[in-house]
Amino acid sequence: MILCVGEPIGDDRSVFYQSRCSIMTELATGASPLEMRDVSFGYENSSGVPSRHLFSSLSFEVPAGSSLAVIGPSGSGKSTVLMLCMGLLTATSGQVLIDGVDTSELGQRKRTLLRQQKMGMVFQDGELLPELSPLENVAVPLMLAGQKSAISLAAAARSLALVGIHSGLHSVDTVTLSGGERQRVAVARALVCQPKVLLADEPTGALDSSTRDKVADELFSIPNKTGAALLVVTHDPSIADRASAVLDLGAFVHG
Ligand SMILES: Nc1ncnc2c1ncn2[C@@H]1O[C@H](COP(=O)(O)OP(=O)(O)O)[C@@H](O)[C@H]1O
Ligand SMILES: [Mg+2]
Repeated sequence: MILCVGEPIGDDRSVFYQSRCSIMTELATGASPLEMRDVSFGYENSSGVPSRHLFSSLSFEVPAGSSLAVIGPSGSGKSTVLMLCMGLLTATSGQVLIDGVDTSELGQRKRTLLRQQKMGMVFQDGELLPELSPLENVAVPLMLAGQKSAISLAAAARSLALVGIHSGLHSVDTVTLSGGERQRVAVARALVCQPKVLLADEPTGALDSSTRDKVADELFSIPNKTGAALLVVTHDPSIADRASAVLDLGAFVHG
C-alpha cells in the first residue's frame, strides 16, 4: 500500500514516494486504480466566491488489491473526497486519477462513462430499490449500461455470491432484508460492473456491531478477490483498522 500526504519533496515522484512511504511496489507496474496528487479543494458559493476551504496538498494512492480508510471528524471533508474521486466535484488544483486517467481533463459525459465503467459506490443505507428483488437491484447497473437482461441477472448472481448472499435471498421482497443483508446486496451491486475502484461512504454506519463485522468481512475481502482498490470512509476505528492504510483528514482541515 502506498499512502502519501503533504507537499512533494521534488519533481521526481519516486523520490517523493521513497521518502514518505515504507513500501514501494506499484510504480514500476503501472497506474494504480485510484490516486490523488496534490489536490486542493474548497467549496464556492453560488457567485463563485470561495466559501469553505477544505484541504491542500492531499495526495494518496490506492493500488489494485488494497484498501484505504478515510477517517476524520464530521465536516472534515470525507464525503467530499468521495465526490472528487467520482468526478462529481472538480479539484481546485491537483489531479484525481482513475486507472491512470486524469479526470480533471474530462468533460461531464466522459466522467460519467468512467464512473460507470471503473467505479462502484456503496452508501450508508444501501439505497436499494424496494420495488425490485435483491437480484434485480444488483443487475440494474448492467442493464442501464445496455447489457441484456439474462446476462445481467447471471452476473448479479455471481456478484451476490461474492458477498455471501445465497440464492434463497435473490427473489425475496427487498424490504424484508436485514440491515446486514441489505448492505451486502449494496456491495454486490457496486461490484456487478467489475469496477477497478470500489468506494464506500460509512457502509456500516447504520449497523449493530455483529452485523457490522460481517459486512466489513465481506467488504474488505473484495480487493483480494477481485483486485479492486477499495476506499472506505468511516468514523469507526474497528473498520479503519482493517484497511491497508489510513488517511486522517482531520490533519488537513483548514478552519
Ligand atoms: N455544497 C457545499 N457548499 C458549501 N459547503 C459544503 C457543501 N457540501 C459540504 N460542505 C461543507 O464542507 C464540509 C465537509 O463536508 P463533508 O465532505 O460532507 O464532510 P464529512 O463527510 O467529513 O462529514 C462541511 O463543513 C460541509 O458543511
Ligand atoms: Mg460524510
